[in-house]
Amino acid sequence: MNNCFYKITDDIAASLKNYLSRLDYSKIIFLVDENTANYCLPVITSDFNDDFLVADIRAGEEHKSLETTQGLWNILLGNEIDRNAILINLGGGTVSDIGGFVASTYKRGIRFLNVPTTLMSQIDASIGGKTGINYGGIKNIIGTIKEPEAIFVFPNFILTQELRELTSGFSEMIKHALLRGGRLWKRTREIRVFDINEIKSLIGDNIAVKFDFVSKDLYDKNIRHALNFGHTVGHAIESYRLSNGQKLLHGESVAIGMVIESVIAFRRGILKRNILQEIRDYIALFFDLPRIDNLDKIIGIMKNDKKNRNGKLRFTLLEDIGHYVLDVEIKVHEIYDAIAEYNLSYKSL
Ligand SMILES: NC(=O)c1ccc[n+]([C@@H]2O[C@H](COP(=O)([O-])OP(=O)(O)OC[C@H]3O[C@@H](n4cnc5c(N)ncnc54)[C@H](O)[C@@H]3O)[C@@H](O)[C@H]2O)c1
Ligand SMILES: [Zn+2]
Repeated sequence: MNNCFYKITDDIAASLKNYLSRLDYSKIIFLVDENTANYCLPVITSDFNDDFLVADIRAGEEHKSLETTQGLWNILLGNEIDRNAILINLGGGTVSDIGGFVASTYKRGIRFLNVPTTLMSQIDASIGGKTGINYGGIKNIIGTIKEPEAIFVFPNFILTQELRELTSGFSEMIKHALLRGGRLWKRTREIRVFDINEIKSLIGDNIAVKFDFVSKDLYDKNIRHALNFGHTVGHAIESYRLSNGQKLLHGESVAIGMVIESVIAFRRGILKRNILQEIRDYIALFFDLPRIDNLDKIIGIMKNDKKNRNGKLRFTLLEDIGHYVLDVEIKVHEIYDAIAEYNLSYKSL
């Protein structure tokens, strides 16, 4: 079970102040990137009485690195931050992943809070305690599992996000809806064009889905694997495209991954063709489904995936909307064949 406190609030400054007033700490450190320093930090600190430190990192996945981590450890050491300090990760998934990692390793761990500012981080990345950085060209390969003390979600932060970034976050909403099925899939599928108010109205339900999986399996031993749907293929494509300069956002890669992993399920006879079609058609409303080449490289990256056990690739496959099977062992040739089929259907879209 997890004991992380979370709150959805329409007054982030007051909620945070109220929460902190009940704690004993030596210093507050806000971790931001240049965008959250600009759009989000003033909303909180304009009326903040305490002395605080701001640590900033450069925005973007390519900075979720060991180098940035070292820079942050140095800032904490240089400012004589002790173990009674609290780090507040104010940003998207990049900030909470790296900030959580820094907080869970500095002096063997200091407390941290997540205040997610992107759709992706509000409904997914800030929840569940997975922290980490990219290393050796592989996404999230170094990290810890350490939950924040609390998560404060202020949905209005997403209003300043760029459309492409927002859409990327929506990919994880589609994933949650496909796993949960029922009313959540129905409500999600009714969104045919990107409407920020409709998206905001689904944030609470999506947080509940993520919390549900995490609270049953914080250490990712069984049921939480469901959330990997789309991510084994998606991460490999994302890592590959990060290294070859044709960067795709996390959610964009996961959208492609969900389609390809659904093709694998279809080819195995687990998923019906009309459901595959429904999934692909819905995802294609919001995401490019580009041709995927360089399969040897992409599948090479997949072989290093953290989710593998004893060198075997294991996927979460959908059997239907709202139904899935965990840890299905997939042979490399099935991935080649599924991507070949995906590439063909891409032409006919
Ligand atoms: N730990 C987990 O469980 C988990 C889950 C999902 C994703 N992730 C990770 O999260 C990352 C993706 O998350 P993300 O999409 O939030 O990325 P991000 O943190 O890189 O943010 C995307 C961009 O939006 C900007 N931004 C952030 N908040 C803003 C705001 N309110 N207004 C304007 N711009 C703003 C950022 O500066 C950045 O340029 C990936 O690294 C992914 O691996 C982690
Ligand atoms: Zn994801």
